[in-house]
Amino acid sequence: MMRLETLFVHGAEGDPATGAVSIPIYQVSTFRQHTVGQQGGYQYSRGNNPTRHALEEQMALLEGGSRGFAFGSGVAALTAVFHLFRAGDHIIASRNLYGGTSRVLDKVFSRFGIAVEYVEFCNLRDIEAAIKPNTKALVMETPSNPTLMVTDIRAVAALAKERGLLTIADNTFMSPYLQRPLELGVDIVVHSATKFIGGHSDVLAGVVVVKAAKLAEELHFVQNSTGGVLGPFDSWLLLRGLKTLGIRLDRQSQNARELASWLRARPEVEKVYYLGFEDHPGHQLHRSQASGAGNVVSFDVGDGDFARSILAKVKLSVLGDSLGGVETLVNLPDVMSHGSVPAERKLQMGITPSLIRLSVGIEHPADIIADLEQAMKL
Ligand SMILES: Cc1ncc(COP(=O)(O)O)c(C=O)c1O
Repeated sequence: MMRLETLFVHGAEGDPATGAVSIPIYQVSTFRQHTVGQQGGYQYSRGNNPTRHALEEQMALLEGGSRGFAFGSGVAALTAVFHLFRAGDHIIASRNLYGGTSRVLDKVFSRFGIAVEYVEFCNLRDIEAAIKPNTKALVMETPSNPTLMVTDIRAVAALAKERGLLTIADNTFMSPYLQRPLELGVDIVVHSATKFIGGHSDVLAGVVVVKAAKLAEELHFVQNSTGGVLGPFDSWLLLRGLKTLGIRLDRQSQNARELASWLRARPEVEKVYYLGFEDHPGHQLHRSQASGAGNVVSFDVGDGDFARSILAKVKLSVLGDSLGGVETLVNLPDVMSHGSVPAERKLQMGITPSLIRLSVGIEHPADIIADLEQAMKL
């Protein structure tokens, strides 16, 4: 088996028909059929499209799954996964999920009789205590956004197997380069491919990868029936983004380490959340299930007005809602990425009005530091 760095470049080889090294963009909705009622092959792009298929295969390969499914956004990918459940089902989810994930569960799927309960996933006993006869799945996101709490993927997957539940892991923050939950026993991996997979802040996309054939069949049925598929051009952008995922993340991770150490030494900063610090509470566990600390660094400056003034003064870093792009992005989770999360849950997650999240880019680290330094000047 080739290493991931090689698979990023050679996993999705080009076009067998022409030898083109870049997979062509099959910008097409329908395909000529050879017989009435043709089975197999390509028929209609909602069901299958060659460019999307190449991306789905590449993502399945990178995550160690059997099949991938690409959608028009990360939330659309999660929505497809939640369509595997039915009225009367109960889902246990981590308290530290991305706000949009809990919003779709609480405000949309609840209308269809699917109940969700949030518990602290760092504590296995809390998960176990929440399991009911109608519980069907455990939903985790590790490390969590933005305070980087770590869930024991192997332990949650083992508990789920024992109790006959499905496990769903949002792997957006790590990408398959740093963490592969299917190899740790998880059933379904989801990505907001808008982030590291695309990597250039130019495409909105989501991907689901599974191993079991039955789940793959069900997900393909949902994907074709509900129709939130990724278009050919956006699929191509992700295939292109994937080629440099390894080198981008290497550089971003290296920069994040420098930024985190610099922030920790600043008198204005009360607390720094960074998985690479040995005294981060999830450091050891994270190391046991992932191969790097990633590029996210969050820091608390203790005063909401000060945090806002920093964000108003940054010039190089982009004040924005996303992460994982080549440019450094800064965000105030309290009102931005987690604005839709109820206040009480935000506080439980450590999201104060003075917490700033950085998604460190590939710029020269000295320039990112200089930018933050000038923004912190009173
Ligand atoms: C961890 C995580 N999951 C899912 C999503 C949703 O993805 P998208 O914005 O592509 O719909 C996001 C977006 O910020 C995210 O950070």
